[in-house]
Amino acid sequence: MIEDRPLYHVQPAANWTSDPNGPIQWHGTYHLFYQHHPYSPLWGPMHWGHAISLDLAHWTHLPMALAPTPDGPDADGCWSGCAVDDDGVPTLIYTGVRRNHTYQSRYQQTLCFATSNDDLQTWQKDPRNPVLSGPPEPYDSRGTAFRDPYVWKENGAWYGVIGSGVEDVGGSVLLYRSADLRHWEYLGPLYTRPRQITEPIGTGSVWECPQFFLLGDRHVLMFGVWDRNKLLYTVYLTGTYADGRFTPRVLRRFDLGPDYYAPATMQDEQGRRLIWGWSWEARRRLLQKAAGWAGVLSLPRVLTLRPDGLLGVAPVPELAVLRRARYHRTDLAVTPRSPNPLAEVAGDSLEILVRMELEPATTAGLKLRRSPGDEEYTLIQYDNATGRLCLDRDRASQSHGVHQGMHGGPIAPGPDGLLTLHVFLDRTIVEVYANGCVCLTARIYPAREDSRGLALTVQGGDAVVTALDVWTLMPDR
Ligand code: FRU
Repeated sequence: MIEDRPLYHVQPAANWTSDPNGPIQWHGTYHLFYQHHPYSPLWGPMHWGHAISLDLAHWTHLPMALAPTPDGPDADGCWSGCAVDDDGVPTLIYTGVRRNHTYQSRYQQTLCFATSNDDLQTWQKDPRNPVLSGPPEPYDSRGTAFRDPYVWKENGAWYGVIGSGVEDVGGSVLLYRSADLRHWEYLGPLYTRPRQITEPIGTGSVWECPQFFLLGDRHVLMFGVWDRNKLLYTVYLTGTYADGRFTPRVLRRFDLGPDYYAPATMQDEQGRRLIWGWSWEARRRLLQKAAGWAGVLSLPRVLTLRPDGLLGVAPVPELAVLRRARYHRTDLAVTPRSPNPLAEVAGDSLEILVRMELEPATTAGLKLRRSPGDEEYTLIQYDNATGRLCLDRDRASQSHGVHQGMHGGPIAPGPDGLLTLHVFLDRTIVEVYANGCVCLTARIYPAREDSRGLALTVQGGDAVVTALDVWTLMPDR
């Protein structure tokens, strides 16, 4: 039996996991909640799972933070939201949903609260729930999404955004203000974009899990793009915010991979902006059911604002505590005919850091989860001529019912002119960080026991690997 459960990514013992929710640091401890269906590996009435960590690398799961209350506004699910420190009171702000039997398959989406008085161990729902029962006028709750609050404090007042959008019209984020977190005044849409605009990227009809924060001297808006019942990808915009309106200057995809969605961010005690996402399954429902679990949270990443207005992204440095055996090489000349410099290394839980000077080589490729005869492998490839980074999983697995294809996009050159690939492999999830500015997340399901090898290749000319490190990663048990 091939081990498919990740070892060092956040994931509960079994069943369904999706959006990270309400990350917050409380007296030093990181708390991370997540959408969880504790009774099935398929999506269902959502609960909030809860995990804590002191070092962002090792996580302990606590009892469920939120569960639906029969007859409550969250009777059919506690959907996504955020966590804030309300003057010393830990407070969860979430989406309570009830199935609306009048309108097929629609959910009545409301704003609900819960607080804790025992150091975030247990949570009591506010008797005033729901504090908002649907979208503001002129929106019609039958056809308008209204979910996933994200709340922050600004000049002594609370502000919140709620993900919204109208089918076939476009997505929006709605802006609110409150003095006490319980009474909310609608200020108007913070930002909207028609579905018809698809350049440089389409932003669909509903925006899920909006995040809005100041980073350096710009405001950043991020969200998951939902379109015609499909969850597509995560985007970010950087720009300016004044008088309740956001004016973007840049719109990009965040994470070029196929399996990253539902961003949740926080500012930690060091002032860093951290982000988690949900990496969904890329296999058939039947396989998901057979596995008994689904979904994993991505590694914590640090966001920064680059001088060009794009986001910089890197895995948190704390993950280095997971490193065990190390393979290290420097100043290695590689040619298209060189023997594989990674022939001696293997594993399914690895960190790979490679820095290369590509010229005159035109492409560099890193294969992982590779079987000895190349029957199975996942290829991460950078093309110097187009500046594109791709992950190709056409040969990632010999089993049927798993997603394939090439995914990727352009990446900015590194500041030193080198190509830097920083890869985290954790059994069935791969996270690639390239040149400190782009990440790419994908799920892969090799079917062979011996698909544990690595290979490094170049094409079109010679290249120099200035530094190459591979660590086996293993959390303390
Ligand atoms: C995003 C999402 C959210 C919603 C939650 C329900 O994946 O659709 O908009 O709150 O999942 O599980």
